[in-house]
Amino acid sequence: MKATLHNKNILLGVCGGIAAYKSAELVRRLQDAGADVRVVMTSGATEFITPLTFQALSGNPVHTDLLDTQAEAAMGHIELARWADLILIAPATANTISRLASGRADDLLSAVCLASHSKIAIAPAMNHVMWSSSVTQQNINLLQQRKAVILGPASGMQACGEKGEGRLLEADELVAACSQLFKQGLLQGVSVMITAGPTHEPIDPVRFIGNRSSGRMGFAIAEAAVEQGAIVTLVAGPVQLTPPLHVTQINVETALQMQQAVMKHIAEQDIFIATAAVADYRPLDAQTQKIKKTGADLTLSLTPNPDILSEVAALDNPPFTLGFAAETQHVKDYALQKLKQKNIHMIAANQVAHEDQQDTGFNSEYNALQIFWQGNGQGGEQTLERCRKTELARQLLTLLAKQYYA
Ligand code: PMT
Repeated sequence: MKATLHNKNILLGVCGGIAAYKSAELVRRLQDAGADVRVVMTSGATEFITPLTFQALSGNPVHTDLLDTQAEAAMGHIELARWADLILIAPATANTISRLASGRADDLLSAVCLASHSKIAIAPAMNHVMWSSSVTQQNINLLQQRKAVILGPASGMQACGEKGEGRLLEADELVAACSQLFKQGLLQGVSVMITAGPTHEPIDPVRFIGNRSSGRMGFAIAEAAVEQGAIVTLVAGPVQLTPPLHVTQINVETALQMQQAVMKHIAEQDIFIATAAVADYRPLDAQTQKIKKTGADLTLSLTPNPDILSEVAALDNPPFTLGFAAETQHVKDYALQKLKQKNIHMIAANQVAHEDQQDTGFNSEYNALQIFWQGNGQGGEQTLERCRKTELARQLLTLLAKQYYA
């Protein structure tokens, strides 16, 4: 895998944190993998480790100042930005993450990032409370939306003496992750349609039946599929998420609209991934005027919605189908039942509304999945442990690609 870094130009951004000492080892490991490494240090980083260390290790001058005329004359920030195939920031502090998220360009590292078309990989390292703070998480989300790749952090004992998430990944893990970024996509040129979010089934003009789906799982899969080179169509129910880049997004409200949008474009798809929490029922007679309160009991009659996933799987020439199953109990049994009943290739089951499943699944940044597949006479299963949906989506697509090409 390391061969993919051969002859790659990697600009390593080092920020001011105690983990900066690990970046010295990282330079060596990147070189071992065949990369040419140049280092940009923030002023904070120079308080922890000297530029001389990186100069000796990388064999290249180290860049620290944006407004240094001599350095700019040799290789200025624009040249550095153009030179890099990948900008890897390790360790990335909360401060640098925040500067990048807000588009600052008043130090060399942030200016290079802003001026570069290259991929940016960010390996955060900080105290676990700083990492989990909502502002850092918002900045991370923003950077991910702009296609930055977030590597880690790992969890464990921290320099502050506390335990938690916020440790810099080890040098070997970072090198492996960087190699992945230069691989040809697993789904290069493959057409993938994804449904995401809830559906809203109108009762009257101001009320609806809905559910707690945020759309995050489906949007994360759409982004991961783009990363893997897929041509992605996202059919999204009513969600509050920023449309992913390089994705054709079709917005719908109801299950019937979702069905119509899916069936209109399904013939062009190689893979169909049904992440949406589609309402199983809709009010039989949605009222055109607001229902008035009378004080008497009110009964709503519901009628079943079409099952979009089953309909796709039943086509004469169906795409490869991956369904989701949100279950509160007997997860494996129910998921396997759905796999067979809907006659799909794979199913990703998540346990929801369980007391052990805090901040997981519906309307969370995190999820955990049990995947089952039918295969050619030989089915299989794999568990994907709880992690951010963005990371989980990548793991899920790796599994899916194996089955798709099998
Ligand atoms: O959106 P998030 O907040 O990120 O949350 C993600 C999630 C929990 C919604 C997601 O991981 C998930 O589990 N989605 C499926 C939820 C669900 O409604 O499952 P189900 O067991 O009811 O449906 C089974 C499968 O059939 C699903 O793939 C569903 O999209 C599909 N289906 C269901 C009913 C229907 N009428 N049409 C369908 O296509």
